Amino acid sequence: MNLVKPVAADRLPALLRQMPKAELHIHIEGSLEPELIFALARRNGVALPYASVDELRGAYAFTNLQSFLDIYYAGASVLLKEQDFYDMARAYFLKAAEDNVVHTELFFDPQTHTARGVSMQTVINGLHRACVDAQAELGVSASLILCFLRHLSEQDAFETLEQALPLQDKFIGIGLDSGEVGNPPEKFARVFARCRELGFHLVAHAGEEGPPAYVWTALDLLKVERIDHGVQSSRDALLMQRLAKDRIALTVCPLSNLKLCVFPDLASHNLRQLLDAGLAATVNSDDPAYFGGYMNENFTQTFAAGRLNAEHAYRLARNSFEASFIDDAAKARHIDRLNQTFAAFQ
Ligand code: ADE
Ligand code: ZN
Repeated sequence: MNLVKPVAADRLPALLRQMPKAELHIHIEGSLEPELIFALARRNGVALPYASVDELRGAYAFTNLQSFLDIYYAGASVLLKEQDFYDMARAYFLKAAEDNVVHTELFFDPQTHTARGVSMQTVINGLHRACVDAQAELGVSASLILCFLRHLSEQDAFETLEQALPLQDKFIGIGLDSGEVGNPPEKFARVFARCRELGFHLVAHAGEEGPPAYVWTALDLLKVERIDHGVQSSRDALLMQRLAKDRIALTVCPLSNLKLCVFPDLASHNLRQLLDAGLAATVNSDDPAYFGGYMNENFTQTFAAGRLNAEHAYRLARNSFEASFIDDAAKARHIDRLNQTFAAFQ
């Protein structure tokens, strides 16, 4: 039986909003809205180089990844106390629940905070408490993935891992983010090998701005289970075959790619090409406070740009559960709900 019936273009946004989905690529510091940045700055007595929320938002015009990262790390400077990390994550979970995100795996960047004198416990305990409450109060399951900043040294990553290990029950995986070009995965091969021995799930940003070669080394040297972004993979036919054959998920972030000028417009985005080549692509928001939209905006704007239909919507949502790090029984429950949503959709 074909589960996915054709859906008229004007009804697709409703289906995209209603369908349950998982978000697998969200930097929690990238969910910090300008209003919350100003509120936390006031609460903590931190001076900001912007006079108002509007002035800060006006600065969100990016030309590439680095131009964004400079402002993103500056925004995180208002986070000092455990409650600040809790409040940031709580605000994200409220948006996620509104968008029918039923499971999420959050990236966090501890080095951005420990370098300012904030302790690892402050960061992890605040975020973890928000995850526990999201499940209990909103029905959104959530877990944490600690990311190493790739513009820093491998030694710094090893030290960060050491600091985090006493709290290892509070995060499930390790990722790699920040400026990609010039910081290839191989720079972190030994620390990822150690994280693998420790039993963490492994992911890495690769092929966002960087070449397909970085996707190959993320797979073969870091041994990651998912590739974050990975959109440059379409430049390498052999890599596309490998990703399809091994069902390596790509956590694609269309509005991020648009705002960081990876693609000139959403109509030129290669999401459909990735799906049609049999890759396990997913849709995610990356840094929604900076890129103009949370999950449902990513879905509706990408589909509005054309060339994607209800079958693609189903595959994207299904891929998000299959590629997640939840257990098989939870995956099956979510996929059942997804199937019911599609079956009942008029
Ligand atoms: N950190 C936050 N967002 C990022 C992105 N899109 N790429 C790399 N590092 C990031
Ligand atoms: Zn990212």
